[in-house]
Amino acid sequence: ASAPGVADALLGWYDAHRRDLPWRAQPGDTPDPYRVWLSEVMLQQTTVATVRPRFAAWVDRWPDFASLAAARDEDVMAAWAGLGYYARARNLFAAAKVVVADHGGQFPRTEAELRALPGLGAYTAAAVAAIAFGERAVVVDANVERVVARLFAIRDALPGARVAIRAAADTITPDARAGDFAQAMMDLGSAICTPRNPRCLLCPLRTQCAGFAAGDPETMPVKTAR
Ligand code: ADE
Repeated sequence: ASAPGVADALLGWYDAHRRDLPWRAQPGDTPDPYRVWLSEVMLQQTTVATVRPRFAAWVDRWPDFASLAAARDEDVMAAWAGLGYYARARNLFAAAKVVVADHGGQFPRTEAELRALPGLGAYTAAAVAAIAFGERAVVVDANVERVVARLFAIRDALPGARVAIRAAADTITPDARAGDFAQAMMDLGSAICTPRNPRCLLCPLRTQCAGFAAGDPETMPVKTAR
């Protein structure tokens, strides 16, 4: 797998097959950092199908950082009901207040400033930097981890393999279209490069995939140390 080959093939596939999701900007439009951030937090432990209607209801009620920061605590917690992991809702509310109080209502742009906000770990900061601001950031969630492990035939067991997977992901991350690349990797992982029966014949990266060439992509990533 070579850097421009992978990114070009993947972005071409994304242009043809990208999912229309309510938090995604239309091609050519500027993404809204509030919506990108909210969706990434909701999607951390919750499926796209569940998040869709909950995201829509949330942004109807609180369309931006200022309205969320001014909400009542009990309303925010009630609006999160059923999504689980309530620390995410507490952190969302706290982060909105920090954005309003310390950043003039504008989301900070760099991964480092983003990581200083409540609840923004490495994954969320990288995802927002790439998707909302187009910054080159290496965005690795469980779907991306699987795609990269197979693409490079990384056979070390998780969690140790994460170092090699991240390094490999770095080599294929392009400077341009960082947000599209990150979301294309996520879409590929959820639609094509699935855990059990990957649809390799539909995959835009098939000819560059070391796991496909080896004939056993579904065995990667290896989950338990032996
Ligand atoms: N999972 C986490 N973030 C996502 C995104 N932006 N699009 C699709 N699935 C995701």
